[in-house]
Amino acid sequence: MANNSEFSSKLGIIAATVGSAVGLGNIWRFPAETQANGGAAFLLIYVVCVLFFGIPVMLGEFVIGRAGRSDAINSYKKLSPDKPWWVAGLFGVVCSYLILTFYMVVSGWTMEYLYQSITGELFRPLEGVEEGSNVQFLQRMDEYVSGVWPPMIWTWINIAVCGLILSMGVQKGIEKASNIMMPMLFVILIVLCISAMTLPKASEGLAYFFNPDFSKITPKVWISALGQAFFSLSLGMGTMITYASYFKKDTNLMQTAVTVSGIGIFVAILVGMIIFPGVMSFGLEGESFKGSTLVFVTFPEIFNRMWCPQLWSILFFTLLAVAAITSSISISEVSIAYFCDHYGMKRKMATVIVMLPLMVLGALSSLSNGVLSDMTLFGFTIFSGCDALTADVIMPLGALIMSVFLGWFAPKNLIREQLTNGGKLKGYFVAPVIFLLKWVTPIVIVIILVTSLFT
Ligand code: TRP
Repeated sequence: MANNSEFSSKLGIIAATVGSAVGLGNIWRFPAETQANGGAAFLLIYVVCVLFFGIPVMLGEFVIGRAGRSDAINSYKKLSPDKPWWVAGLFGVVCSYLILTFYMVVSGWTMEYLYQSITGELFRPLEGVEEGSNVQFLQRMDEYVSGVWPPMIWTWINIAVCGLILSMGVQKGIEKASNIMMPMLFVILIVLCISAMTLPKASEGLAYFFNPDFSKITPKVWISALGQAFFSLSLGMGTMITYASYFKKDTNLMQTAVTVSGIGIFVAILVGMIIFPGVMSFGLEGESFKGSTLVFVTFPEIFNRMWCPQLWSILFFTLLAVAAITSSISISEVSIAYFCDHYGMKRKMATVIVMLPLMVLGALSSLSNGVLSDMTLFGFTIFSGCDALTADVIMPLGALIMSVFLGWFAPKNLIREQLTNGGKLKGYFVAPVIFLLKWVTPIVIVIILVTSLFT
């Protein structure tokens, strides 16, 4: 079955797609990965990955979604009715759900931190911890994340907010929310960036972030950068297929992909320009500066040393919550679209069916940071396992199957038809895109997957 929903305007399409792309991946995951992989060298490889792998794969998903005009699974079925390529779509639906289990939890943290910024609780010194010491925020984060009820309840609130937006539909829900939230995100980001430039050691932070040390580029940096590029552009999981099924017939796919990727890179750079000057200025390179808690520890540390900490942290956590919500809805939409299109289900019903089990899985994922932290498989908890499995394995695999399908097996003229809107647009980039999908993307992904499995 096909869907008949459509975004209403060009701006709405960009807002919703950027809303999906720019999320916790750019703000929470990116600085942590940059830090773990040698600073500026990582940024450089990340940009290369976005340009040469991200954009072609995004275009591929756009082509499938807009030509198939259906959810991730049924779009493949329409383009290739008697071959099992739809399995790639099934991967997408299952994996987007796995992503949601931890994504909703982290989104919940952002809401709690916003709430604590508003009440001022976040900056109240902890008992028994020396005031002004670096461990303040680290301990607060550890205690919060490993707690039982608060993170679980915020996860549920977050799922409910997303469910509400999604149940209102493609135009009145997704598009409208994105149109309001995305401009807000950019204003906040720029205000924070300007204020970071006034910090005492801003230039040292910028040097760490922008002067690459080429000796730091190892295979691991490539793997992480590719995973980060896919994650931050919402690729490999059917999200962009689903959103592209709501694009218009005359939407310029190339222009959209370039704009969205460009904005994605821009946001990641702005975030780096905020965090690294702060880190250098206040000597935070130590303990607090690592891993998934980074933005929840380092940012409050930075704000606490600035004039009016509450102001900055309210701005920042609003930014983070907004980015998380517009991305969460896009990930959830993959499953919702499937239930609507495949079973002809009403949107509200589909939303409930997707969101209710998520409340349970999200709660388990949240608990795996605390009371369930002993429940591990290959050293991963439910939470960290879902993150690693999706970003490092399933997402690249999804992108691999998709590019093999498009490069080698899809109907001959499909890509050209879609990228030129049936000949109306110039098509000089069609041949390079096909070349990349046919030869470069699959080979590089295989190399990276194999290296990461055996090293
Ligand atoms: N891109 C989003 C972020 O950076 C997350 C996201 C949305 C995503 N949809 C996705 C990641 C699909 C992978 C696949 O936070």
